[in-house]
Amino acid sequence: MDPNPFWEQPDIVRDFADRAPDVRLVALLESPAARDIRRALDIGCAGGRNTVLLAQHGIEVHALDAARAMVAETRRRLHATLDEGTAATRVQQRRMDELDCYPDAHFDLVLALGIWHSAGSWAEWQRAVAEAARVLAVRGRLLLSHFTPRTELTGCGVQAVPGEPHTYEGFESGRAVLLERAEIVSELRPIGLEPIRPLEVLTTEKDGGRRVSVTGELVRRER
Ligand SMILES: C[S@@+](CC[C@H](N)C(=O)[O-])C[C@H]1O[C@@H](n2cnc3c(N)ncnc32)[C@H](O)[C@@H]1O
Repeated sequence: MDPNPFWEQPDIVRDFADRAPDVRLVALLESPAARDIRRALDIGCAGGRNTVLLAQHGIEVHALDAARAMVAETRRRLHATLDEGTAATRVQQRRMDELDCYPDAHFDLVLALGIWHSAGSWAEWQRAVAEAARVLAVRGRLLLSHFTPRTELTGCGVQAVPGEPHTYEGFESGRAVLLERAEIVSELRPIGLEPIRPLEVLTTEKDGGRRVSVTGELVRRER
């Protein structure tokens, strides 16, 4: 796996590790639906803010990230809840489209929070979403946050990559796959992922740039 130096930087790891858990995940874990969540997968766990919260709730959480430094930080933080061997098995260095180590219909909850845009290509994005649908149990939930092409993290805009659908240059971390809400729904519905409620579009201004994210919960339909 070619490491992406951006995600290995100690200050970036610290920045993500220091963030509070995702508010939608916190709300889900405080709701009656939490009773049905026994096993969860955190795709692109970064500094482990959501992985740790799931473990603290007694959920068998598995996590993956392509960056060695992010994996090390998530494992380290899990040691408060899990022994070292279990943390090492549960948190793996792998890419978002390499879920072959997990059986079909294995998870009650999959997190794809700010991760799928990091696919290096449209083909990787399509493999990643198909794999997430495969490992999710019927009636399992997918918690999603996904950037749209109206996002520009630095204020310098993004530029479409010719010949590569939905793919843009302009993110410091490398190429990004960016989709609007309707495009996300029309890609996910045919692979069995249905929004529970209409997905929201949230805009925040930060660091001179703008984040426009499609966010919400989807459910895995019958196969
Ligand atoms: C914006 S952060 C994710 C944030 C995290 N989900 C959270 O809510 O805190 C993006 C993460 O994706 C990882 N990443 C980038 N490309 C990846 C890939 N192709 N497969 C798996 N992880 C990847 C990065 O190392 C980084 O930790």
